[in-house]
Amino acid sequence: MFLRNAWYVAAWDHEVTRELQQIMVLGEKVCIFRTEAGDLVALEDACPHRKLPLSKGRIKGDTVECGYHGLTFNCVGQCVWAPGSSGIPSNAKVHAYPCHEKYGLVWIWMGNPALADPSDIFEIEHYDDPAWGINRGAAMELDCNYLLMCDNLLDPTHVAWVHQSSFGSDQTKDAPLRIKKTDDGVIVHRWMMDHEPAPFYKKVVEFEGNCDRLQHYEVRYPSHALIKAVFTPAGTGGPDGPLHEKTFIMDSYNFMTPTDEGRTRYYWFQLRNIRPDDEALSKMMSEDVQHAFEEDRAVLNEVQKGMTNKTTPHIDLPIDGGQLRFRRQLQAMINEEQQVDRQMAE
Ligand SMILES: [Fe+2]
Repeated sequence: MFLRNAWYVAAWDHEVTRELQQIMVLGEKVCIFRTEAGDLVALEDACPHRKLPLSKGRIKGDTVECGYHGLTFNCVGQCVWAPGSSGIPSNAKVHAYPCHEKYGLVWIWMGNPALADPSDIFEIEHYDDPAWGINRGAAMELDCNYLLMCDNLLDPTHVAWVHQSSFGSDQTKDAPLRIKKTDDGVIVHRWMMDHEPAPFYKKVVEFEGNCDRLQHYEVRYPSHALIKAVFTPAGTGGPDGPLHEKTFIMDSYNFMTPTDEGRTRYYWFQLRNIRPDDEALSKMMSEDVQHAFEEDRAVLNEVQKGMTNKTTPHIDLPIDGGQLRFRRQLQAMINEEQQVDRQMAE
């Protein structure tokens, strides 16, 4: 089950071209391409005649011609040409999905097009801020349900075991978590005081000695996360701490797009408040983050199999509180959406 009235990431912007491509979002096949002017088009990827994917056909100007019998569809999914002398059947059309380009990503709206508002797309502070640097990774394919990755991104504790060579440190095993439910998601966070920075951060912070560290893990509905890491010299952090001028901040943005119930496409990039133009630093951070996320992938792919094929019940722990709240609220939103859809169909 998925929330349909929401923006999901369909692709990096450079991935969508004048070539017809099939992508899969929420279990639906979508044909995506650009018009001659460069605008985005996303159509249901099935000709209504014999269901050949339109992505197997040809792009003709700003229209798509089916590769089987030449039915031709415009950017809003209306058939504008069909073979035979009796004209175009009124039901010869395909769904057109609203799309929007922002943050180097292509966003797609899978629900009712009348509700699609680009101003609802996840807001990214500092995206165009020249004082902040950025590193991007490739999108990653996960063989697991998207909610397992949402769980992971509401779970500051797992870094102690999964990411020992990068994000984890002894303090991340047991420092108490705080959970906050917001209007648009859940935040799990904690400050850990006066300890040695974890290996990944030790390489990038611009101060010596111990740190105070914030882990802010936030996931917003349906499946978009901000993981904020703050490192400040020991004694200057904490919820009310006067942050030091050498404070290092890394905002990690993570967007999970369900391919279907068992697979997820995972897009991510990080923004940092130091050395914005340092390409070598961006490259190193990308590689290290990619390596750490591969560690998550290996675990989550196995968790997917374990939870799908379990023969005994699983248990929850107190550290799972944020994840469980997130899942419960998202499920309530999905239920409500489906109820409204049923009422409108009656
Ligand atoms: Fe992780």
